[in-house]
Amino acid sequence: MSALAFPQTSTTRRVGDDERASILAAPGFGQHYTDFMARARWTVEGGWGQDEVVPYGPLELSPASAVLHYGQEIFEGLKAFRHADGSVWTFRPEANAERMQRSARRLALPELPAEDFLTSLKAVVAADEPWVPEATSEESLYLRPFMFASEEFLGVRAAHEVDYYVIASPAGPYFPRGVQPLVVWITDEYARAGAGGTGAAKCGGNYASSLLGKREAAENGADEVLFLDSETHTSIDELSGMNVVAITKGGRLLTPSLTGSILEGVTRLSILRLAEDRGLEVLEQKLVMSEVQQQLESGEITEMFACGTAAVINPIGEFRSKEGSWTVGDGGSGEVTLALRKELTDIQYGRIPDRHGWLTRL
Ligand code: COI
Repeated sequence: MSALAFPQTSTTRRVGDDERASILAAPGFGQHYTDFMARARWTVEGGWGQDEVVPYGPLELSPASAVLHYGQEIFEGLKAFRHADGSVWTFRPEANAERMQRSARRLALPELPAEDFLTSLKAVVAADEPWVPEATSEESLYLRPFMFASEEFLGVRAAHEVDYYVIASPAGPYFPRGVQPLVVWITDEYARAGAGGTGAAKCGGNYASSLLGKREAAENGADEVLFLDSETHTSIDELSGMNVVAITKGGRLLTPSLTGSILEGVTRLSILRLAEDRGLEVLEQKLVMSEVQQQLESGEITEMFACGTAAVINPIGEFRSKEGSWTVGDGGSGEVTLALRKELTDIQYGRIPDRHGWLTRL
């Protein structure tokens, strides 16, 4: 049942029209923020309340807030897309709402009802409508809902006071080089998440644990890091913030199965459906890295890509490790990869019919 309305309590914009136009001309990723944000608070006594849309700005937080010490935090990522008629839509928000509830359960945070999640997105986008980039571009307004233990308490237990926010950030391509084939570093030292851990939850800790691997990747001239399973260090888990997919010359799509240590990507799920629709055989299975390397060398695997809300679909051109390097296909952007990317973005931007009913008007 929906309880929250997120009324807008101020209409004063933070950023002037000219500055906003210059930001929207080249937004990059995660560098600029809109005029407003939504927030709500949960307390163990009262449940959810204090919902409103307020000017975007710094939070006042006690230095003893539990999140700063024990990392009790989760987040989501989704996008608002402008269509040619000016309307604004988002993609499968119910999947994000449900995933946020699953993440909340794993991190012992309160579940936000899916309807309230959607209301919070609508409220932010209504207040920040001028920030949704024009339909002519591939840009969008990235929405970042997040929830954290704000209670001032240093004992280790689930917090009794939790804050929820939605901030928004105009977004272009996630990678600074744009949609270009990635060089991916395979780390044999670090794992992102382990069995029974929080790998399937979208919590800050998983991303924090990826950062050293990401730094190692950068030191080796790579754009991204690939984590293998924590137990045997042999099979593919995921990148620092994206799922991994391979395409074979026989028309199969391979991706690691959801073992509990992998994020259940909404983009991943949607791609599997679009691939099935176009006749690919979709196999969610264990992907042993040494076998993938052999199949890259033999030409059996012709394309690989990274996928996620922020990155959409981004080709992988090369893997590197301490042992050597493996080129994917001819090192460029694969045909199937680009076709899936085009179909997905065409649906998101309303350029082709939304045959699966994935879009929700904001
Ligand atoms: C997203 O794709 O929305 C994420 O949260 C991942 C992060 C790499 C930006």
